[in-house]
Amino acid sequence: MTVPEKRVETRLDPYVDVYAQRTQGLRVSAVRALFAVANRPEVVSLAGGMPNITDLPLDVLGSVIGDLIKSRGPQIMNYGSGQGEERIREQICEVMALEKVEASPDDLMISCGSQQGLDLVTRTFIDPGDVILVESPTYVGALGTFSSYQAQVVHVDTDEDGLIPSAFRAATIAARAAGRKVKFLYTIPNFNNPSGVMMSIVRRRELLEAAKELDVVIVEDNPYGLLAIDVPPQPALRSMDGGQVIYLGSFSKTFAPGFRVGWVLAPPAVLKKLVLAQESATLCPPVFSQFAISEYLANWDWQGQVEAFRSMYRERRDAMLRGLDDHMPAGATWTRPKGGFFVWLTLPEGFDSDQLSARATSHRVAYVPGTAFYADGLGSRNMRLSYCFPTPERIYEGTRRLGEAIAEEIELRTTFGLVNPKSALSVGHGRESSS
Ligand SMILES: Cc1ncc(COP(=O)(O)O)c(C=O)c1O
Repeated sequence: MTVPEKRVETRLDPYVDVYAQRTQGLRVSAVRALFAVANRPEVVSLAGGMPNITDLPLDVLGSVIGDLIKSRGPQIMNYGSGQGEERIREQICEVMALEKVEASPDDLMISCGSQQGLDLVTRTFIDPGDVILVESPTYVGALGTFSSYQAQVVHVDTDEDGLIPSAFRAATIAARAAGRKVKFLYTIPNFNNPSGVMMSIVRRRELLEAAKELDVVIVEDNPYGLLAIDVPPQPALRSMDGGQVIYLGSFSKTFAPGFRVGWVLAPPAVLKKLVLAQESATLCPPVFSQFAISEYLANWDWQGQVEAFRSMYRERRDAMLRGLDDHMPAGATWTRPKGGFFVWLTLPEGFDSDQLSARATSHRVAYVPGTAFYADGLGSRNMRLSYCFPTPERIYEGTRRLGEAIAEEIELRTTFGLVNPKSALSVGHGRESSS
């Protein structure tokens, strides 16, 4: 049977031979693919990582931004500096001082969210095949960026204190022995997305020492550092050693992601290259957003607002941990984050979170399967559970529904002899959790 020509065109991409090779690494983000399901009102979404910004002072912001347009519209709606506006760079230095970072406004560049900072750093350092070391697991958006520049991603083991420096050493040495160039280590030391784990201070010191010895650049991504819940904000890696670290910051979680304002703090030679990369990508970061955030920082008790966010997220984190304690089966473990947005859950042996996802959806709860956070297919027993967006009641209910979905799966597996019914797989006794 011949297929009508028009139909073939809609099924096959006519541009396939024209695309650059680097597009082969582009994948639909697992998180984005889930959005359609997770956004349905009857579903409790523990999937998305959207900050809850409904408590921001919208009336104050509205009048501040209105006044800005009236008084300085022609300036703030025009092109600006590729490095970013001086005033906000000064203010960012004050923000970073809360994590003990000493920097001057000349040392940093504004980016369109830290995501663009990461893109520009990757573009500046990576040739196809170069190695980037990352935590196990790591941020799905970073994996997307790294694969779009055809990097080879190597995961480094972590535990409840964060990245393990000896594993970092071993991975670096092995990659070099295989003739690869290790360009940088990408780490999220504070409340890692997706694991929620915070790197201990001792580990930070050991890691910096190892990086110096092996001459590996560290890219420190720190969007959650000020959203510490049980501990004070931790000193940034960058505050402990200025020479080895490129630091990425963002207003997305402590203020609002829609302004798309982040920053990169880098050694002078690197910064020069990044500004050139920024100019070729966007000419300049959004001037309007930078002015709006500057006014907010200058005229509002923004530190009080961050404190309010911290207690709001604490309540949500507690609801999730309570729910998991009450509803998870024995054999499941999960992290107990001291800040940030995420809990990382490990299912009992033999379970697959990708497969469980459809059953969870039928129980009206969504999560992100763990494989999204690995470049090498690992993570099938894991899932990322976000507590940032739903209310505490909905979060608790979400864990109840998840428990129901897992219990159903256990029942099915027991019926088909896939688990030993005498094993400890029973619901409601899952207090085995790691920190
Ligand atoms: C670890 C990490 N880095 C970077 C980003 C991107 O943030 P931004 O909105 O600043 O681009 C996110 C967003 O979720 C994140 O979790």
